[in-house]
Amino acid sequence: MIAGWRCAVCGTTVDIAQPFAWRCPRATADDPYHVLHVLEVDAGYDLTDDLHGDASNPFLRYGPRLAWWAFARANGMTSDACVALTRELAGDFTVTPFDRSDPLSREVGADVWVKDETGNVAGSHKARHLVTILLHLRAAELLKMLKKRPPLAIASCGNAAIAAATLAARLEWPLDVYVPTWMDDVVGDRLGELGARIHRCERRSGDPAGDPAMLRFREARDRGAIPFTVQGPENASCLDGGRTLGWEIADQAAAAGIGLDRAVVQVGGGALAACVGDALGRTVRLDTVQAEGCAPLADAWDRATAVDQPHRYWSQVMKPWPEPRSAADGILDDETYDWIADFRAMVESGGRPVVAAESDIVRAHELARAAGYDVSATGSAGLAGVLTIADRLHAHERVAVIMSGVER
Ligand SMILES: Cc1ncc(COP(=O)(O)O)c(C=O)c1O
Ligand SMILES: [Zn+2]
Repeated sequence: MIAGWRCAVCGTTVDIAQPFAWRCPRATADDPYHVLHVLEVDAGYDLTDDLHGDASNPFLRYGPRLAWWAFARANGMTSDACVALTRELAGDFTVTPFDRSDPLSREVGADVWVKDETGNVAGSHKARHLVTILLHLRAAELLKMLKKRPPLAIASCGNAAIAAATLAARLEWPLDVYVPTWMDDVVGDRLGELGARIHRCERRSGDPAGDPAMLRFREARDRGAIPFTVQGPENASCLDGGRTLGWEIADQAAAAGIGLDRAVVQVGGGALAACVGDALGRTVRLDTVQAEGCAPLADAWDRATAVDQPHRYWSQVMKPWPEPRSAADGILDDETYDWIADFRAMVESGGRPVVAAESDIVRAHELARAAGYDVSATGSAGLAGVLTIADRLHAHERVAVIMSGVER
């Protein structure tokens, strides 16, 4: 059962019945270093109930394990109403393929299993994170907890922005997307078609260090916009739906009769690895991957070994990467926002951060495409990590990677 949320930094808890529990109540402009994580009191869920019917839709199949669902139920919404709302907003999500890749296994010299997210809603796994925010919002609206719709806001110029615009359009909910000046035209055009309002963010004189798009996004949030974003510290609810990806992998591995040894997951802001690590649990080793041109998580890992309870020293441990650079341009977040959950999953499962050479990022992309995946260099970066550690893998080791993000 989900009791609510607990801040991984200060321990403050928030009851599950509370609407819009995006951030730790103790987070402030001067001390933003807090992040809420789902607080489960026991893991017994009845997922076999006929009510949830369609097992091919993860948001129905795992519905009662989700925090948005627990929030709605705690406020009196019926299970039937939760099912109906899921069908309305998330009806087109399906369990994505998970198969052994023969060519990649041969190349790596271990058993490589691929979770293929390129055919997911909006072309990547990002919509999984965002749809639970939207389900929470719509449930709150139906429960009369929200009288007026504030705009949704996100800082992204990639898969997350396209997923956000795709989902916002389902309710015609206004969305402001804060993007860097160098945004790709293909992405800009798609966002425009989906009805998002695009704000190109130049650095202004007087701006503090950091990504200007992120600064403008935070200003919008402070004016009342809803953080519709895939960064746990900005909106913990994104860490809710992302877990469906890991639950699927676990169930599909079991159905295939294999025990997974390891998952090697690409990291930008860190929410994906946080969710997959949490969902797979301590028996599957989680290794995280960043490119050599942007590896703040590995740096933080080294710094963290010097202190007890690193989560208490956020700004000393997690430092922005000065000049992020890689062909895997979707994982160039200068900070790994969800580093605490990533660390926890790695520590508990015996994993480590892997830093992939740029040559491995490029080679992984070529191999992935040759193996039949219509994936971007960002989306194949987990495989780049596997190439980096290939000589440390046993021949029979079963390694999962996630191919996400179609090549645009
Ligand atoms: C295709 C793809 N894979 C992985 C990631 C990394 O996810 P996260 O930012 O949650 O670490 C992203 C986005 O950043 C992405 O677009
Ligand atoms: Zn806190």
